[in-house]
Amino acid sequence: MDRHPTRRALFVGGAVAAVAATAACRADRPAAAPTPAATPAAEPFYGPHQAGIATHPQIHAVFVAFDLRPGTDRAALGRLMRLLTDDARRLTAGRAGLADAQPELADLPARLTVTFGFGPGLFARAGLRDRQPRLDLPRFATDRLQDRWSGGDLLVQLCADDAVTVAHALRLIVKDARDFATVRWTQRGFRRNQPAGQTQRNLMGQLDGTVQPTDLDRAVWIGDGPDWLRGGTVMVLRRISMDLEKWDAADEAAKAFAVGRDIKTGAPLTGKAEHDEPDFTAKDEHGFPVISDNAHIRLARVGDPALRMLRRSYNYDEGISSDGVGDSGLLFVSYQADLDRQFVPVQRRLADSDLLNLWITPVGSAVFAVPPGCGPGGWIGETLLA
Ligand code: HEM
Repeated sequence: MDRHPTRRALFVGGAVAAVAATAACRADRPAAAPTPAATPAAEPFYGPHQAGIATHPQIHAVFVAFDLRPGTDRAALGRLMRLLTDDARRLTAGRAGLADAQPELADLPARLTVTFGFGPGLFARAGLRDRQPRLDLPRFATDRLQDRWSGGDLLVQLCADDAVTVAHALRLIVKDARDFATVRWTQRGFRRNQPAGQTQRNLMGQLDGTVQPTDLDRAVWIGDGPDWLRGGTVMVLRRISMDLEKWDAADEAAKAFAVGRDIKTGAPLTGKAEHDEPDFTAKDEHGFPVISDNAHIRLARVGDPALRMLRRSYNYDEGISSDGVGDSGLLFVSYQADLDRQFVPVQRRLADSDLLNLWITPVGSAVFAVPPGCGPGGWIGETLLA
């Protein structure tokens, strides 16, 4: 599934760090700790799909949504996307952008990916409403959405294994977009530094991301939608706050019961290991389902693997207020070929009766059409805007 040489690159980075450490010891100087996160590895920019989706998740992410300025019409959008594509192709290769005020910060691509998404307002401004796929969600019962975390005409997702690389890329992108758009919101996220194949833990301590689609050509990439969107996908970003104080007060059994999995191992309550298939028919000695009817994994389960969404979420943590209350949660990010058949029914079931709702609240929501990738000489969005 992962077409990028991530593991190899990380290994090579680790080996380089190890050699450097040995040399430093020989010279009787303190050895710098090997930092696999700071690899110079570059993710390929060109391809039929945009990078940053099937890419093994990097450690840091920032999502920035723009509102287009009045007058940013189809031609202006073409100019903007050419400019931002040029920034993306340079930065992801470890080269400075054309208008880069701090080119030395571009040296370390750290697997940077730059992924673009188009919100409903972009189609309106471009006079292309007729080519817009459905991008609106129904209101879900548990939604407590705030404007400051929702919506947006243009989305740029920046992910890298280095926080400075992400900050620098954001700075350049925002600067270059300034004549065309204003920033609506930015949302920052982080994950553990884990090799591909290992599931991350969210801030509730759960292994999150175990069950994923296996056939991205069917589940994620649009094959038979509008021509311009073939090879693209639809992205959902939901900011979901977690009441971690309340979660901390729950006992292990209650936590596992709510998810339907053991928190430590991630195994379904009917199994022993993380990737064991859950048995949703199993009953306990009293005749009750072992995996509760309201457990998150039962309600989120999708029978047909081709209809599973790809989840690529990040944790967020905005710190602790002076009265000791935290503001953290999950930037839930999913990519799917069909919003209505994949995301909506699952979210509806979860909103109706997921036990996790005792601790989580969606506070932001945005949906974007993610155009396909481009080749050398091309630009992201050309299939719609050219
Ligand atoms: C599975 C946590 C929100 C869809 C899981 C699992 C955990 C988890 C621990 C089990 C391991 C795994 O397969 O990844 C959370 C938390 C959430 C959240 C803490 C909010 C803060 C959502 C949302 C959706 C969703 C908003 C989609 C609308 C899924 C799906 C699965 C899953 C499809 C796989 C179910 C299966 O087939 O076994 N989630 N989740 N989750 N979640 Fe969530």
